[in-house]
Amino acid sequence: MARVGQVGLGYWGTNLARNFDELAELTWLCDASPEALEQFGRRYPGAKATGDFDELLGDDTLDAVVIATPVPTHYELAKRALEAGKHVFVEKPPAMQAAEMEELVRLAEAGGRVLMPGHLLLYHPGVRKLKELVDSGELGDVLCVYGNRQNLGKIRKDENALWSLGVHDLSVILFLVGEEPSQAVAHGNAFLTQGVEDVVFCYLRFPSGKIAHMHLSWLDPHKMRKLTVVGREKMAVFDDMELERKVTIYEKAPWEPAGIYGEWRTRTGDIFSPKIPNDEPLRLECEHFLSLVVNGPNGHAEARDGLTVVRALERLTESLRGG
Ligand SMILES: NC(=O)c1ccc[n+]([C@@H]2O[C@H](COP(=O)([O-])OP(=O)(O)OC[C@H]3O[C@@H](n4cnc5c(N)ncnc54)[C@H](O)[C@@H]3O)[C@@H](O)[C@H]2O)c1
Repeated sequence: MARVGQVGLGYWGTNLARNFDELAELTWLCDASPEALEQFGRRYPGAKATGDFDELLGDDTLDAVVIATPVPTHYELAKRALEAGKHVFVEKPPAMQAAEMEELVRLAEAGGRVLMPGHLLLYHPGVRKLKELVDSGELGDVLCVYGNRQNLGKIRKDENALWSLGVHDLSVILFLVGEEPSQAVAHGNAFLTQGVEDVVFCYLRFPSGKIAHMHLSWLDPHKMRKLTVVGREKMAVFDDMELERKVTIYEKAPWEPAGIYGEWRTRTGDIFSPKIPNDEPLRLECEHFLSLVVNGPNGHAEARDGLTVVRALERLTESLRGG
């Protein structure tokens, strides 16, 4: 069983520790806060607790490090863990600059270590279903994809809506389309905290001609976590706010009837929702990481996908700032 150490024992770290304790041997707990260490130490008495990351890295029997600290600390901690020869699971995004992420990927490849960013939605059975619909050709050629991630709150001060919310949709859009964008444009505004955009609209265009859009906001009356895929034959929606109907497939499409040359009509048919397993995405994500730790990094696909996401975020940020 893999021996895992976790740094970052806050809100999200609680969920990660629960899963890694159940699926692996949680042997180290690390946090800058003595209160967090004490609280987690009581919950996981078999794990050693430390405020010193180097102490954890110095344990030669430790296989993997899980990083769930604030975003600006990810790159440095992941780099040190990879340099110490550990496999790394790091919350999203692993770095705030593409050059830093490239360095992490290089370190992982050179050392034969796993580097997996926490792109949770990629492990959501609903998103997996969307991917299956796209890859099987059931939707026909994909024309456009758009994401809505809006709510009133949680208002952040350290990272803008693009980095905080957009990283989720971006990882899924790139996963579904399977291309790097040739064009990345973002507009938005910082209404509440100087320099921290609360509302961001993004446009992506891909070499194949597919296009994508993201509306990201914590100043909105609607609570939406939705992704829509428009294909030439059918359309599909993943709605994470729905309890049962996570994915809906619409038999709706443009239609050019024979005999009426050049005239476009529309076709509407059934609307149905396939059964989506109720498995916890975070558990599936942790299981996937552990399988890579045991079986090897498998071409470093997760690390490279993480790099594609950071690269796109960086380009969108340049556009947002008027670059
Ligand atoms: N995948 C998801 O859906 C999801 C959801 C929420 C948060 N997250 C990610 O999880 C990460 C943590 O978010 P959170 O909401 O749990 O934050 P948090 O503030 O609740 O917890 C962060 C913890 O890290 C500790 N810490 C900070 N710097 C440290 C350092 N240098 N060394 C050791 N400990 C340090 C803090 O003391 C705190 O206990 C972020 O990267 C966030 O993006 C992911």
